[in-house]
Amino acid sequence: MSVKIIGVGKALPRKKILNSELPEELNTSDEWIRSHTGIGSRYICSENENSAVLGVKAAEAALANAKSNGFFVNSEQIDLIVCSTAVPVHWGFPSNACLIQQSLCADNAAGFDVSAACSGFIYGLQTGRALLNQMNWKYALVIGTEELSRIVNWKDRSSCILFGDGAGAVLLENSEENTEHFGSFVLGTDGKGAEVLYLGTDDILIHMDGHAVYNFAVKKMVEIIQTLMEKDNLSIDDIDLIICHQANERIIQAAAKRLNYPLEKFPILIEEYANTSSASIPISLTDLSENGILKHGMKILLAGFGAGLTWGGCSLTW
Ligand code: UT7
Repeated sequence: MSVKIIGVGKALPRKKILNSELPEELNTSDEWIRSHTGIGSRYICSENENSAVLGVKAAEAALANAKSNGFFVNSEQIDLIVCSTAVPVHWGFPSNACLIQQSLCADNAAGFDVSAACSGFIYGLQTGRALLNQMNWKYALVIGTEELSRIVNWKDRSSCILFGDGAGAVLLENSEENTEHFGSFVLGTDGKGAEVLYLGTDDILIHMDGHAVYNFAVKKMVEIIQTLMEKDNLSIDDIDLIICHQANERIIQAAAKRLNYPLEKFPILIEEYANTSSASIPISLTDLSENGILKHGMKILLAGFGAGLTWGGCSLTW
């Protein structure tokens, strides 16, 4: 049995907000935001949009992309929906996966949400892959979808400028092929860092110690990449692209520098979308595949980190 990604898709809210369009009271500037983060704009949900709606659209795009790749999968064939989100439509229940299942008419799918903040897509990918194998299922949708604009503190200029809404999805197929598409996975948590990035229980807003998160992120990205390469016996020459969680372009640049690897192998897609948490990796996969940078047969690494603290990564052949 071999599990592979056969389709990718993304969805963004209708409304795009440039740095220059942020509220004046924030006392920020396009220059500061770009030079400290690489962010130029973000998409924000408006009427009739939320993380479930975006998740459905991204899933539909992944199914359409699979079709264009020659894989005709209808929604009734989907066995599993794993949805990573920090901002579900309902806190608690029902899960976003259930809302998405209903909208897709995926009548035969099991589904649940994963909560691992920005690392959630990697957690979801490994969970989806493991369950396809374990349950002898054929198709799984793994979705990262976020509406961070609902929980950012719009009075805190050091954090609100970072985040954006969006969704990305992949369709996994479990087949009889002998080729293994996924290599190793790394997953980890450190609850000692819970207080550096958390959602307030009373105010339901993001609280962040930016410096602590930054330092953790650079260290962890380096560790994830080195561990995956060691586990799968890879050198940097074997790897075509290292696709990181898009939190801040400076984090990615610092990790590449510390590893002494060419920055060209680290795509940066934060300028338009800002940090879309667990949606950032599947959105990046979609864009890179659509614009022909990510090609069939390429060896890639994925690496993410987030609140919890959590982290995760994997190697795979596209
Ligand atoms: O998915 C994980 C999510 N979180 C992250 O990835 C966050 C990781 N951390 C970071 O990306 C960076 O720490 C930030 C972008 C949050 C902050 O960048 P920094 O270079 O560490 O800036 P700083 O916090 O050291 O602030 C420098 C100055 C301060 O002013 P003073 O004290 O030097 O006068 C801030 O008040 O910049 C000020 N500042 C701003 N100025 C204009 C902070 N935010 C802003 C802003 N616009 N938006």
